[in-house]
Amino acid sequence: MDTKTTFVGLEIKSPIIVGSCGLTSEVSKLRELEKAGAGAIVLKSIFEEQILNEASHNMRNKEFFAFPESYDYISNYSQSNAVDKYIKLIREAKQTLTIPVVASVNCISNSEWLNFAVNMQQAGADAIELNMFILPSDVNMTAEDVERFYEDTIQTIRRAVTIPISIKISTYFTALARFVQKISLMGVSNLNIFNHFCLADIDIDAMTTRPAHIMTNEDEIYDTIRWTAILSNVAKCTLTAGGGVHKEADVVKLLLAGANNVQIVSALYTKGFDFITKCNDFLMQWGDQHNFNKISDFKGKLAIASNQPSAFLRVQFMKYFAEIK
Ligand SMILES: Cc1cc2nc3c(=O)[nH]c(=O)nc-3n(C[C@H](O)[C@H](O)[C@H](O)COP(=O)(O)O)c2cc1C
Repeated sequence: MDTKTTFVGLEIKSPIIVGSCGLTSEVSKLRELEKAGAGAIVLKSIFEEQILNEASHNMRNKEFFAFPESYDYISNYSQSNAVDKYIKLIREAKQTLTIPVVASVNCISNSEWLNFAVNMQQAGADAIELNMFILPSDVNMTAEDVERFYEDTIQTIRRAVTIPISIKISTYFTALARFVQKISLMGVSNLNIFNHFCLADIDIDAMTTRPAHIMTNEDEIYDTIRWTAILSNVAKCTLTAGGGVHKEADVVKLLLAGANNVQIVSALYTKGFDFITKCNDFLMQWGDQHNFNKISDFKGKLAIASNQPSAFLRVQFMKYFAEIK
């Protein structure tokens, strides 16, 4: 079976996208990921926070600067240093790889990162992914305020760059399907569901907070399957599905649910890069067994609009609880 598919408006040879993470921040690793069979790679995000922190670290001794200009200079240097490294990564990745390379920006405001996006386009990035997130914890912010942040940011970047834009979102929206449809009509080429955030745990002896596990687990795939099945016919652009892909069969499941391509991160840390090769082999064998010639022969077969919706729309356990004695 032919495993070609699409991602950010580009044809890719495999539906396996390596998601943004520490593994995608060095050219040597990118080369290995391509060799293992990845269809495209999203580089490690450049974090607006990281850039601002770098600037503030250098600025802690502000009083030692005799002239305000030196203060401004250091602040600018810190920014461009982080940006320069990132731009170099994009350039080298583009010189080395044949598969699409997507730059990623983690933005928490609708300002600073915009200049970086233009630089990334100039450096040759095939697309830009915006990894946006504001935790809806502010009681003064309505659901509309939260959504407006995303919409304003998308509009701003759309005007700034001409390369395709991918938007990576979380599940934390009041009306996810409606919101996804809305932003998919704002000139974006791809939606990436879902991001995975730092989780916080509590140490009950020290009575402090501590970071929880960093990688996703196998059970997280079910939420991704459900939302892929719901959103694949709602989004008016291509859909990358990810979060909880730990088995080869998960790739097939997400394509059946309607994803155009599948993002993998945690499993590459826990199983190694040849998990990509295994997923591609499994997909081809499964496709051959079922007499499919290409991904579009079965993509979305189990998406909500074309199959019985009840399994994915049902969220309560009445039937199951009633049967469990
Ligand atoms: C170690 C690690 C680092 C990550 N760094 C980023 C990042 O810089 N930007 C981003 O958008 N997502 C980042 N992610 C989230 C992943 O791209 C992905 O969305 C998430 O891990 C879910 O996919 P998975 O279940 O295959 O891990 C990171 C995930 C991990 C585990």
